[in-house]
Amino acid sequence: MALGKFISFEGIDGAGKSTHVGAVAEQLRASGKTVITTREPGGTPLGEKLRELLLQETMHLETEALLMFASRREHIAQVIAPALARGDWVITDRFTDASFAYQGGGRNLSLDKLSVLEQWVHPHLQPDLTLLFDVPLEVARQRLDKHRTLDKFEKEKETFFAATRAAYLQRAAQFPARIRIIDSTQTIAAVNAQIAQLLATL
Ligand code: TYD
Repeated sequence: MALGKFISFEGIDGAGKSTHVGAVAEQLRASGKTVITTREPGGTPLGEKLRELLLQETMHLETEALLMFASRREHIAQVIAPALARGDWVITDRFTDASFAYQGGGRNLSLDKLSVLEQWVHPHLQPDLTLLFDVPLEVARQRLDKHRTLDKFEKEKETFFAATRAAYLQRAAQFPARIRIIDSTQTIAAVNAQIAQLLATL
């Protein structure tokens, strides 16, 4: 049985989630918790190799979904499950909701197929809390343009991100107790305060 807490951070590229992962981990450590921060795709040596492929290579949409879940399977086995069993807190930058949003929404892969993979790879594991960083597409785009060379997903068209964002919001409507929407157009301080309130409920 899992003893630790499992928290995932989600949102379209440029929504600002990565800014908050470190701060939340520090906040929890300050309150005496042992915290692991990790990410998907990736989080293990094999997963990081898969991430390279996933973020650079063009491939069939089902290959992409299968590799996302292959990376996740390894991540759960090597990192997430052992940490939760030890009683540690795990914060992951993306988990399965990202597959429903990007491969399901963005690429239009059948949600039934994604549900099969979810049931296969983690039938009994879900995050205790998912923070969905939500911003309008224009804001996300501006934030992305600012800082770097774009990867395969970040180069996608606006319609892709509109569908990805819509799928995230649909998932949040489906699991309202687990997935909490954060208005990521707020200041960093305001977002931190909202996250602190949500963490206090765990
Ligand atoms: P991201 O988390 O945005 O990392 P960084 O902040 O370093 O750019 O990059 C991961 C990308 O992978 C992102 O564009 C979303 C995509 N992704 C999927 O399409 N499906 C998934 O299941 C996961 C976990 C990620």
